[in-house]
Amino acid sequence: MTRKLRIWKITANRQNYGSDNLSLSNNERSSIRAVATSYCWALLLSYLKSLTYNAFPVTANQRSTIMPNRPNIHTAQIKHVSFGKNVTVVEPVNLYGCSIGDDAFVGPFVEIQADANIGAKTRIQSHSFICEFVTIGDDCFIGHGVMFINDRFENGGPAPRDRSHLVPTKIGDQVSIGSNATILPVNICDRVVIGAGAVVTKDIDQPGIYAGNPARKLRDC
Ligand SMILES: CC(C)(COP(=O)(O)OP(=O)(O)OC[C@H]1O[C@@H](n2cnc3c(N)ncnc32)[C@H](O)[C@@H]1OP(=O)(O)O)[C@@H](O)C(=O)NCCC(=O)NCCS
Repeated sequence: MTRKLRIWKITANRQNYGSDNLSLSNNERSSIRAVATSYCWALLLSYLKSLTYNAFPVTANQRSTIMPNRPNIHTAQIKHVSFGKNVTVVEPVNLYGCSIGDDAFVGPFVEIQADANIGAKTRIQSHSFICEFVTIGDDCFIGHGVMFINDRFENGGPAPRDRSHLVPTKIGDQVSIGSNATILPVNICDRVVIGAGAVVTKDIDQPGIYAGNPARKLRDC
């Protein structure tokens, strides 16, 4: 601030004295030089800082110093998946130990767990969760955010982690499930439509359109 004021005074003085008195005193020159030099140093330092950051990225140890109580972070992945021909997957997804048939489509933010099977030409839209032991037939449509369930909390809470308490789900062919539906461990036959937001709690063994919580048949297809 003082420097700025000083430069302003110098400029004002130059205007007052006219063109014959334009020369600067030694003090004035050194003030201007000091301001210019400090700007140059600031620019150079910020440039060097960016170079150093790119050349030496932060290590895991440094990160844990920067972020105390850093959690164990796992990365979403596609691992041990058996793919048919011509499958499309839109990342990010978390797919592991499952099988996906020919010409299937898997949208982003989908998780398909181990021992789940997706049939040929079936589309899984974004944000759906397909858990262990779910089998979906051919030519099905699974809308956005459809949640499958394999643990009924039979003993008043989540089942132990040994998988023996998990219950399978089987979806037939040409089944369309509306967005945000929840499918408990059930069997659904071929050619069924499940409405958006439905909660399917029981087996469905007749083709038709079902909706609501709990899902009930609205009409035949
Ligand atoms: C279930 C569905 C297929 C029914 O369609 P429809 O046969 O044309 O049904 P209608 O619109 O004639 O509605 C019939 C009755 O069911 C009710 N209904 C319709 N969809 C419902 C649903 N998802 N949940 C609860 N009730 C529903 C209607 O309110 C209506 O009730 P009313 O007779 O008391 O007025 C459709 O509503 C649906 O939910 N589609 C899912 C679409 C979807 O999620 N697509 C995902 C890709 S974006």
